[in-house]
Amino acid sequence: MKIIVANTEKEFGELAFAEIKKVLDKNPACTLGLATGSTPIPLYDEMAKDHQQNGTSYKQVHSFNLDEYVGLPKEHPESYISFMTRNLFSRIDIDMRNVNIPNGLASDIPTECARYSDLLAHAQVDIQVLGIGGNGHIAFNEPNTPFDSTTHQVFLTQKTISDNARFFNGIDEVPKSALTMGIGEIFKAKKLLMLASGKNKADAVYRMIRGEITPSCPASILQNHPDVVVILDKDAAALLV
Ligand code: F6R
Repeated sequence: MKIIVANTEKEFGELAFAEIKKVLDKNPACTLGLATGSTPIPLYDEMAKDHQQNGTSYKQVHSFNLDEYVGLPKEHPESYISFMTRNLFSRIDIDMRNVNIPNGLASDIPTECARYSDLLAHAQVDIQVLGIGGNGHIAFNEPNTPFDSTTHQVFLTQKTISDNARFFNGIDEVPKSALTMGIGEIFKAKKLLMLASGKNKADAVYRMIRGEITPSCPASILQNHPDVVVILDKDAAALLV
């Protein structure tokens, strides 16, 4: 596991982008695994800036997002398809036909989970961007999710609901359920790029890197992956020194 601590938010975005760019340079038709939330925004800003200034193209890129809320209309500003379109897809030249996000509006949720798992089983994610929850979750795999899980529906913990309330007009508006890529599927990516920033992540980051490998901290499984880059800001790295 390679751990890098950024000095500024700009550097955080640049360091994360450097990892994505290496993969893109090697294979312009690569498959990116993408995450939502506030943490990857500096990365998406760098991708957009580089696309605009240097013309890096995503025309041949395929992407898989980690998760989506259940029941939130696609046009709701906090649906993950809206988030990704606003923060990344509309700012680069990716072909939207190559974009994959679980459909949280599917009438048959088990069939939708099986469809997404099947797509992932036939793909090879070259680099998967990850964030970490304050409780150690990755994607929406909450504590005690089996390490070999595939795409499934989750009921969010109270901690995740209250953490995500900042994006909504109050806690009651936060969806209680989501579809998430499973830990087993995340683990199959060739490379994992874990990003964490802020004091509220310091404890989870410590448990991910130094703690026991246990389903009670889903991110701890990263210790077993052969190619992980962790980019932290100073606050998130605070307990590691
Ligand atoms: C989002 C996701 C979540 C977030 C995590 C951190 O697609 O999979 O695991 O990465 O909840 O969220 P932020 O970055 O908002 O602190």
